[in-house]
Amino acid sequence: MPNATFSMKQLGNDMKIEVNRNGFLVDRVWSDAEVSAMQAEMNSWKSFRYHNVVITDAAGKTVKSGGTNDPHVVLPGLDHFGFPQDLKGKTVLDVGCNSGFYSMVAKLRGASRVMGVDVSSLYTDQASWLRDVLGFSKEEMSFQAMDGAALEAMQEQFDVVINLGVIYHIENPMSYLRSVASVTRGMMLLESEMLLDPAVSEYAWFIEKEYGCDPTNWWIYGPKCLEGMARAAGFSRVQFNGFLWRPEPGTKTPDGFQRQGRGVFSCWK
Ligand SMILES: C[S@@+](CC[C@H](N)C(=O)[O-])C[C@H]1O[C@@H](n2cnc3c(N)ncnc32)[C@H](O)[C@@H]1O
Repeated sequence: MPNATFSMKQLGNDMKIEVNRNGFLVDRVWSDAEVSAMQAEMNSWKSFRYHNVVITDAAGKTVKSGGTNDPHVVLPGLDHFGFPQDLKGKTVLDVGCNSGFYSMVAKLRGASRVMGVDVSSLYTDQASWLRDVLGFSKEEMSFQAMDGAALEAMQEQFDVVINLGVIYHIENPMSYLRSVASVTRGMMLLESEMLLDPAVSEYAWFIEKEYGCDPTNWWIYGPKCLEGMARAAGFSRVQFNGFLWRPEPGTKTPDGFQRQGRGVFSCWK
C-alpha cells in the first residue's frame, strides 16, 4: 500500500494534511512562487539537514529538503513498534526533534499541544518553519533549542515523550535519560542504534572515535542494557518492542565496523 494514509487533520484554516509513505500531502494548490520560495528555504538548510521533508500539494507539485533520512518511510515501522496512533488530548514532547516531522505527526494524531526540543537551533528553526508552512499555530506547537539533558528546567511534564534516534549521540546517557524521565508523565517511546548480538544484550559498546563516520555516536546499547538504564532512570516498566531495522548480514559502516540494528522501547513512568 504505497499511498496508505497514516494521519489526517482538518485544520482551522481549511487545509487538510495527510502523511503517507511519500511525505506530507496538502489539499491546497500552491502558486509557482510559493513553491519556489519553499524550495529555496529548504535549499538554504544546505548540509544541515537530516530529515528529508517532502511536501506535495494538490496539483502534485513537490518540495523536498533532501536530507538523508526519510521519516515518512520510517514511520510505518515505528507504528508497528509502538508509536502511539491516538494522541487525542495528550501533550507531547519530541526530544531531538530535528526538523519536526514526528512533532507534526503527533499533532496530526490529535495531540493537544506538542513541544519539540533539539540541541541545535538550526534544526528547531527548520521545525518552526515547517510548522508555519503546514499551518499549525505557535500555541499548539512550539520548538526550542535546548539540550535534552537539561529538561528539568522546563518544570513541566508531558503525557507522551518521543525520543527517537538521540540516545546513542549522548556522551552521558544516564543524565540524559533521568532528565527525559523527569518530564515524562505517561510514556516514552525510545528508539536507538542497538547491538544485534543476543550474547551482548546486557552490554554497551563505547565508540571511541567514529562509527558510521559520525563523531557524535558515543554508545551502542544491547537491548537488556538500555532496558535496565531506562528503569534506573525512573521508568517503572520498560518493554523492548523489537528491532525496527536490521542490516543485511555482513554490512559494514564506511569506517569498517559491523553495522548494528535499530530497536524500539516503550517506557512507562
Ligand atoms: C539522528 S537525529 C534523530 C532525529 C529524529 N528524532 C528522528 O528520529 O528522526 C538526532 C537528533 O538529535 C539531536 N540531538 C543530539 N544531541 C542532543 C541533545 N543532547 N539534546 C537534544 N537533541 C540532541 C540532533 O541535533 C539531531 O537532530
